Amino acid sequence: MVSYKELGLVNTREMFAKAINGGYAIPAFNFNNMEQLQAIIMAAAETKSPVILQVSKGARNYANQTLLRYMAQGAVEYAKELGWEHPQICLHLDHGDSFELCKSCVDFGFSSVMYDGSSLPYEENIEITRQVVEYAHKYDVTVEAELGVLAGVEDEVSAEESHYTKPEEVIDFSKRSGCDSLAISIGTSHGAYKFKPEQCTRDPQTGKLIPPPLAFDVLDAVMQQLPGFPIVLHGSSSVPQEYVDIINTHGGKMPDAVGIPEEQLRKAAKSAVCKINIDSDSRLAFTAAVRKTFVDHPDYFDPRKYCGPARDLMKELYIHKIKDVLGSEGKAL
Ligand code: G3H
Ligand code: 13P
Ligand code: ZN
Repeated sequence: MVSYKELGLVNTREMFAKAINGGYAIPAFNFNNMEQLQAIIMAAAETKSPVILQVSKGARNYANQTLLRYMAQGAVEYAKELGWEHPQICLHLDHGDSFELCKSCVDFGFSSVMYDGSSLPYEENIEITRQVVEYAHKYDVTVEAELGVLAGVEDEVSAEESHYTKPEEVIDFSKRSGCDSLAISIGTSHGAYKFKPEQCTRDPQTGKLIPPPLAFDVLDAVMQQLPGFPIVLHGSSSVPQEYVDIINTHGGKMPDAVGIPEEQLRKAAKSAVCKINIDSDSRLAFTAAVRKTFVDHPDYFDPRKYCGPARDLMKELYIHKIKDVLGSEGKAL
């Protein structure tokens, strides 16, 4: 058993309470490799922003859970080296799919876990979330749950109202499961193709897709039911079109990639939404930088020569999200 407290990590409880009161959101960035982690920590240290490092199932398969945890431990020390005296870094399991997995992360030094039972029947989702909460709280590890199904183009599910979180369920769900925060579905989705072209309008000048707005009425109704309760938004990449354009003009092919407009995320961050998940944007920045470097320098073969620019661009992206979208700059002095 390793306590996250010994590793210098923090859980989400205080972070979220301050974020709700302060009208901002904590960035939750996924990491799969060293360059992503370096960029996240450099950005958080430079802006003195609390940050959540997320480890997904894909990341565990790609990079190994043990290695990722030690990297996060190293990240705390690295943050201090960068001059961030009191780093507020949370290590979070993203989309945990079983009690056993959540338990193993608690035992191994994670400070927060998500149990994602959103695809299960309601009662089953409550029951397993409750078991995870019961175990995690013994060690002061916080638990995120999910209610409602995130729409996604990939799995052929369209953003219909029936998939949104039902506000009338959230009091019962949060009370009986005991979760510390709740991820809800209001129209965001994972990946770089968040809406089908037929769900959008098209800018006649640029030909770019203009996505439909998020269901803020559902968010408002959830907040009415659960005043002051921490709400989480998954699938919140904005899919910056400058990265998509670099990719497409340097040998890539990502037609009609579209995300959540940043002004909508800014609006959400001012409400009880206190954790905003961003992964795809970092993938796009990495890919754009690598593709451009390869085209500009076909002779390069040292990975540091193309992963370095990728790291720089990701750092720039993270700083932009922290300062201009989530508003978490200076909240972890
Ligand atoms: O929840 C989705 C995240 O973007 C992680 O995706 O499982 O491919 O790492 P992944
Ligand atoms: P994006 O694919 O929009 O970056 O969402 C990431 C996410 O929700 C991770 O859990
Ligand atoms: Zn997610």
